[in-house]
Amino acid sequence: MAQQKATNITWHQATVTAQEREQLLNQKGCVIWFTGLSGSGKSTLANAVAQLLHQRQHHTYVLDGDNVRHGLNKNLGFSPEDRAENIRRIGEVAKLFADAGTIAMTAFISPYRADREQARALLADNRFVEVFVECPLDVCEERDTKGLYKKARAGEIKEFTGISAPYEPPLKSEVTLNTAELSLEECAQAVIAFLEETDLVPAGR
Ligand code: ADX
Repeated sequence: MAQQKATNITWHQATVTAQEREQLLNQKGCVIWFTGLSGSGKSTLANAVAQLLHQRQHHTYVLDGDNVRHGLNKNLGFSPEDRAENIRRIGEVAKLFADAGTIAMTAFISPYRADREQARALLADNRFVEVFVECPLDVCEERDTKGLYKKARAGEIKEFTGISAPYEPPLKSEVTLNTAELSLEECAQAVIAFLEETDLVPAGR
C-alpha cells in the first residue's frame, strides 16, 4: 500500500459531477481490466473492444502496458515492488478516466492478485470488469510476438512473467476468454455481451 506523504491537503469538490458527465456522454464510466501473460492478447483484445464500442458512439480509452511504461511509469521495472507500483498508478489513472465518464480499458500483465484487487477496490462494485485473457504459456511462447520469451529462456531477461516470475490467475474474474481457442472477434463480442448484460452499455447501440 502506497504511503500518504503529503499533509495539509483538502479534497476539492468538482462543480460538474460524474453523473452529469455520464449524462452528457450517454454512457457509464467504468474500467475493463484485462490481465494475462505477455503475448496472451490483452492489448489486441482491448483495442478490438474499443473499436466495437467506438463504432457504437462510445467514448473509450485503452491504457497499454508497454506504452505507459514509456511515459508515466518509465521509472519502473519488473521487480514485484515495481509491478505493484505500476498497477497502483494505472488503477488510479483508470479510476480518473472512469470518473471522467470514459470506458477505460487497461492491458497490463498485472500478475499479482492483490494488486488487481487494489485496483478493483477503487471503483464501485459493478464498474470494474476483470477480463482474464487466458492463454497457455506454451501458446504465448510459440507466438513470441516480441521475441521476449526466447530472450527470457536464454536468461537475457530476468524476472520474466511465466518463465522466472509468477502469474497469479484470477479466482473469479467477470469474464474469462481463452484466446488460443476463440477468435479475436468472438472474444471481443463476449466482452461486449457482458457489458450489455450488466447494463454498462445499452444493447446493440
Ligand atoms: S506488469 O507485470 O507490471 O503488469 P506490464 O503489462 O506493465 O507488466 O508490462 C509488460 C510488458 O513489458 C510485456 O508485454 C513485455 O513486452 C515487457 N516486458 C519487459 N520485461 C518484462 C518482464 N521481465 N516480465 C514481463 N514483461 C516484460
